[in-house]
Amino acid sequence: TGYFTYDPGYMSTGSCESKITFIDGDEGVLLHRGYPIDELADHSDFMEVAYLLLHGELPTEVQSREFEHAITYHTMVHEQLRRFYDGFRRDAHPMAVMCGVTGALAAFYHDSTDITDERQREIATHRLIAKMPTLAAMAYKYSVGQPFVYPRNDLGYAENFLNMMFSVPAEPYRMSPTLSKAMDKIFILHADHEQNASTSTVRLAGSSGANPFACIAAGIASLWGPAHGGANEAVLKMLGEIGSKDKVGEAVKMAKDKSSHFRLMGFGHRVYKNYDPRAKVMQKTCYEVLGELGVKDPLLDVAMELERIALQDEYFVERKLYPNVDFYSGIILKAMGFPVSMFTVLFAVARTVGWVAQWKEMIEDPAYKIGRPRQLYTGAPKRSFVPVEKR
Ligand code: CMC
Repeated sequence: TGYFTYDPGYMSTGSCESKITFIDGDEGVLLHRGYPIDELADHSDFMEVAYLLLHGELPTEVQSREFEHAITYHTMVHEQLRRFYDGFRRDAHPMAVMCGVTGALAAFYHDSTDITDERQREIATHRLIAKMPTLAAMAYKYSVGQPFVYPRNDLGYAENFLNMMFSVPAEPYRMSPTLSKAMDKIFILHADHEQNASTSTVRLAGSSGANPFACIAAGIASLWGPAHGGANEAVLKMLGEIGSKDKVGEAVKMAKDKSSHFRLMGFGHRVYKNYDPRAKVMQKTCYEVLGELGVKDPLLDVAMELERIALQDEYFVERKLYPNVDFYSGIILKAMGFPVSMFTVLFAVARTVGWVAQWKEMIEDPAYKIGRPRQLYTGAPKRSFVPVEKR
């Protein structure tokens, strides 16, 4: 059986080699294939970033057009899949719906589940990137009792998603370049983040040879938790509960008290011991969106005060707890009209790109092995079976 190291939470275990994303947590640096995240957010778009993550280089104009065509070709979902939604309660959490319908894709697209076939792998990655916004918008429409809106391939990725979310037969969605750009930026900022819990889950599921649709469903399940993707939802709930600027001090005090089990949501990160570079872009985008919509959200004042107080508090400074990507995203999404329950779903839509890129990198590495961690057994030693009458 040999020796192994015991590393709960994988604090110091590198699980794979990867060429996709680099993070320097001490310096607050995040690079995708070498490009800084803020440059990508400012100058690129989500489709280009998806291509970059998958293929390693920014696309030429022709490659861009071909890639967009390959994605839009798959934006619709099988009509039979629509019936899945009817099986859910209207008040089902959309992440629960997403776990189910994404896993179910494997039952519809048999021609892209053979992971040993390069072409099938490629089609599966395109299908997942293309269909995720459709499935997400359908989950929302079902929850509010509105008809599903079919995808429109004449729109960009983010615009099409906004249209499927917010247009109704009686009234088309009014496109705003600022809001479409903000949506696209939010997608870019969430696209990949090396070996976080959900990506590691996708890799682990994939390492057994499971099909990519099942692996992405596993990733969605892992993302749902409040310590990971569910944090954006938790941030907004927390800001609402704090309610006003003058209550911020109390909340910070409670977060420092371990017996309260309360943490400042949107603060801290396993890898970043500095300001999360995505949070900076998010903060700027937040002001742009609120400005465009003319929204004055008191929660933004609470958020800014929280940031101000926490960043000068010894407890947070000592532990290097800074705002993370989720701190501002909820305020933007709320202003754009997304219900809180959809926040983590949006994260899943964007992260699908990272998940499939990481899954593909693993499958195409000739040295990959099934992931099989060991354990420290702390249970009972060997003992003899006791018949029921003697227990
Ligand atoms: N509020 C108060 N104290 C905190 C917080 C927080 N948000 N985060 C960490 N701490 C404390 C923690 O109690 C511990 O203190 P001590 O050393 O005295 O025991 C110390 O800081 C280190 O924390 P940890 O839990 O050992 O760190 P971790 O790397 O295991 O956890 C984390 C990282 C992100 C789960 C955690 O910081 C957290 O729960 N944050 C709030 C949830 C959140 O915003 N998550 C989103 C992460 S970014 C997006 C994503 O990954 O999906």
